[in-house]
Amino acid sequence: MTKDKPASGAAKADDKGAKPARKETILSGMQPTGALHIGNLEGALRNWVKLQDDYWMYCCIVDLHALTADWKDPKGIKDNTFRMAVMWLSAGLDPEKCAIFVQSEVPEHSELHLIFSMLITVPTLTRLPTYAEKKEKLDSYGFLGYPVLQAADICLYNADKVPVGKDQEKHIWLANDLAKRFNNTYRKVFSEPEGLFEKYPLIIGADNRKMSKSYNNHIPLEYTEKQTEKRLKTFYTDPKKLRKGDPGNPDGCPIYLLHNIYSEKPEENIAPPCKTGELGCVDCKMMLSKNLNAALAPIRDRQAELLKDSDYVWDVLATGRDRARQRAGNVMDKVRSAMKMNYRGKKK
Ligand code: TRP
Repeated sequence: MTKDKPASGAAKADDKGAKPARKETILSGMQPTGALHIGNLEGALRNWVKLQDDYWMYCCIVDLHALTADWKDPKGIKDNTFRMAVMWLSAGLDPEKCAIFVQSEVPEHSELHLIFSMLITVPTLTRLPTYAEKKEKLDSYGFLGYPVLQAADICLYNADKVPVGKDQEKHIWLANDLAKRFNNTYRKVFSEPEGLFEKYPLIIGADNRKMSKSYNNHIPLEYTEKQTEKRLKTFYTDPKKLRKGDPGNPDGCPIYLLHNIYSEKPEENIAPPCKTGELGCVDCKMMLSKNLNAALAPIRDRQAELLKDSDYVWDVLATGRDRARQRAGNVMDKVRSAMKMNYRGKKK
């Protein structure tokens, strides 16, 4: 790895104007659970695409994490993994700039997970809200260890930063804690990772709850223009505005939130005529549909191209796997030697 290589962004000279800072590493991960939607795009992917210019970036499709829920019927994981890779590439992740790979193809994730599992107590894990909320439905050893595997994902690349939503804050804390614990118990091997909690635009779904595939209130990136338009028509709007002419309230309207992302000057073009009643909800949704579809057009074009060339997509994942394994292998060598469990070659 080329350390201290001057580069843009994160690797700029620090405030004191001294030597250029080290170029940092990012690990980001997403579960391959079916179609990505515009919430994933605006909330995560667009940010990842920006970050790939400034960091060493590892983008991991965490299929083993998906297994915690889908263990009984894992046959869909492969297809979802492929679709996720297609979406990432369509959104602009560049395999020249970042390693895009599948977690289970880098067995070191499982290896470090096991070592980390020794450094944490069961009560620490059962107290985590993500476990506590779901344990009635999901009480496997694997699910309990979900955040430990996530910590392994992060530390395996010696990641400095992890771009995630606020809901992942405790998991990042755990990864940081495990890195410190390992360093203190054996020898310093790991950087202490931190979350990159960007302020994302909140994307609300058709039913006025946070957009999520599990609520089925989402707009998948795989939708056609027509499907997008149809879905938008089902969106919740101000219940007091029943017909054109009724005064509406754009604040808290999910359609208005989307206009803020996809339309020009919504505070001038949308909010005032909505408030006076001049603009009805149906027309307002049609305007949004046009703008949203225009914004998604390049992503859809690229997606169509990639779907025709699945060999290319699998090749990207193979190259990503090789790059990831190289870095992960180096870190695992350090782990083994810090623990005096390196049996190959040298006696010591
Ligand atoms: N737990 C994350 C989520 O649900 C997914 C994830 C797994 C992840 N490993 C990761 C995110 C490593 C960031 C880094 O969103």
